[in-house]
Amino acid sequence: MSNSKRAAGRKAAERVQSGQIVGLGTGSTVFYTLERLGERVRDDGLELRGIPTSTDTESKAREFGIPLMTLDELEGRIDLTIDGADEINADFHMIKGGGGALLREKVVASLSREVTIIVHAEKVVADLGAAFPLPVELVPFARTPVRRALQALGAEPLLRVDQHGNPFLTDNGNEILDCAFEGGIADPAALSLALAGIPGVVESGLFLDLCDHLVIGLADGGIEERSRAQPARN
Ligand code: A5P
Repeated sequence: MSNSKRAAGRKAAERVQSGQIVGLGTGSTVFYTLERLGERVRDDGLELRGIPTSTDTESKAREFGIPLMTLDELEGRIDLTIDGADEINADFHMIKGGGGALLREKVVASLSREVTIIVHAEKVVADLGAAFPLPVELVPFARTPVRRALQALGAEPLLRVDQHGNPFLTDNGNEILDCAFEGGIADPAALSLALAGIPGVVESGLFLDLCDHLVIGLADGGIEERSRAQPARN
């Protein structure tokens, strides 16, 4: 598994060109992208400015010597964002948020000219949500009504907890309900709209039309790449 993550993460880092502003995703696959970008900065003089999607990525990027900036300093678009995913289907729709960074990841992806997603092969699925519960970020105040609203949509929501059994808090001070859907998510677009309409929901881990290029790490250390025929945005 770590072989395939490493292969995908490092391969995606080669897409970055000097002078670019780069969205830096979150997770164990992105770790290898950060590692490779750090090498390219140090050894090849690659010039980039990264916008991290979590405090975890921010500290790792600093350790690897990657120059950073904030969204407040951004004029125009991010050139390229590289991020992981928990599941991705044939339409390039995704579930993200296993690491809890979904909100900042979605903001950064939506501002990007190109989003490259890096996964290992087991994450490419036929039906979203059949195996991986959908993370939904919510304000703690609204936990109970949001849970009921999610149940009414057919979900079985489970409050995410930390290693001490306390509610897991995102970088934004919010909670996460991980939502299982028996048989998977039949209509991701309709569900995404419904979730956005629940007061107290901040964001969902459904990422629709937010992947342009996919790098799949294979078990033998090889790589498969797929691109969308039509750009998802622009
Ligand atoms: C973070 O909140 C997630 O969206 C990650 O991008 C996703 O969970 C992939 O993480 P790994 O690369 O660690 O599997």
